[in-house]
Amino acid sequence: MYAWKIPGTVFSGEHAIEQLPFLCAEAKKIAVFSDHSIEAAGVLEHPLALLRQAGLETVCLLDLYPEPTYKQAQAVVDAFQSSGADRIVAIGGGSVMDIAKLCSIAADGRYTIKDLLDDPSRGKKTVKTVMIPTTAGTGAEATPNAIVAVPEKELKVGIVCAEMIPDAVILDGEMIRRLPPAIAASTGVDALCHAIECYTSRKATPFSDLFAQEALKLIFPHIERACLDPDAIESKNAMLLAAFYAGAAITCSGTTAVHALSYPLGGKYHIAHGTANAMLLVPVMRFNASACQEDFARMYDFLEERDAQTNEEKSAWVLTRLEEMVKHLNIPTDLTSFGVTAKDVDSLVSAAMDVQRLLQNNKRPVTPEDARQIYQQLLA
Ligand SMILES: NC(=O)c1ccc[n+]([C@@H]2O[C@H](COP(=O)([O-])OP(=O)(O)OC[C@H]3O[C@@H](n4cnc5c(N)ncnc54)[C@H](O)[C@@H]3O)[C@@H](O)[C@H]2O)c1
Ligand SMILES: [Zn+2]
Repeated sequence: MYAWKIPGTVFSGEHAIEQLPFLCAEAKKIAVFSDHSIEAAGVLEHPLALLRQAGLETVCLLDLYPEPTYKQAQAVVDAFQSSGADRIVAIGGGSVMDIAKLCSIAADGRYTIKDLLDDPSRGKKTVKTVMIPTTAGTGAEATPNAIVAVPEKELKVGIVCAEMIPDAVILDGEMIRRLPPAIAASTGVDALCHAIECYTSRKATPFSDLFAQEALKLIFPHIERACLDPDAIESKNAMLLAAFYAGAAITCSGTTAVHALSYPLGGKYHIAHGTANAMLLVPVMRFNASACQEDFARMYDFLEERDAQTNEEKSAWVLTRLEEMVKHLNIPTDLTSFGVTAKDVDSLVSAAMDVQRLLQNNKRPVTPEDARQIYQQLLA
């Protein structure tokens, strides 16, 4: 049996943003969740103008922070409760969307975000949400997950509750036009990680394969142009769609060792989610090659590459192309530049081994010694 739960309505492509007022037509007051950097980049101007021109009342909640802690998420829920709003429009990356999703099930005050950390199954949606991603990206607009940092445990924790799946999504390339190239690169590689991890996951299903394949077919040819050329709107639209597909793939499969080993880098060293995954992508996929050769060969074939003949050659091509993407996008690959040293590896390994939820999805079993060797490769 395979399950497939995705948002109710998705608009995608040029001018998709113009659908926003119709999605909110019945709302009395709309809370727009975003942050000050996104506002400063001018990203909110058009969607806010569309809502106001349609005569809809809005209130902006902008005190949201990247990679939020559960207490920061709670502060936004509290602000929403006193705003009098009855609809949430989230315009931002995974950080903003995750807070919006949590608020959609915690707004009635019956439980706190801390309660949800302890037992996510109690969540019940009371506020409808529209997600407008401004990174491409986490795919948070497609998933039932929200990730918060728990500083007292130096951990990032995923809260999973199907009630958080957004009601509507708008994917419009204009929203990522002004994204700084470094953020576009790390968040774009996060989408790539979601797709390739789900495709090679032990939890992969025919549904997740479909979404992961389509995501990979878009990401491989478009990621560099989308991130490095501000005017490559076609490639940006392709990446937004790919990030959404990759998020849908997560919903019906699960990520693997890249995400498992990246969680401690976010929780303890505050390395941004996309950057941490991008650093680990090539070492983990090289480690996985012996168990995933057939998956990589199938990828080679559906990417319509031609020259390689054997599975070994096809798999080698995929790994080289992954390496090339991380290099072209100038993503840091050295943990020491984030203050991590050789003596920190033991605690990283032990924290990563706790993320069994994802490690169990990895086709090649990961021992503590394997994890140590992977982290050590990043301490060049
Ligand atoms: N819910 C899920 O399924 C899921 C999946 C993966 C990651 N996550 C979580 O999402 C968060 C990361 O999200 P992210 O990678 O999208 O980054 P982000 O939301 O943290 O944003 C990164 C930075 O980019 C800025 N920014 C975003 N869009 C911009 C734009 N268009 N123009 C200018 N600046 C812009 C933000 O202000 C922020 O400073 C992490 O907390 C991660 O754990 C969630
Ligand atoms: Zn991710």
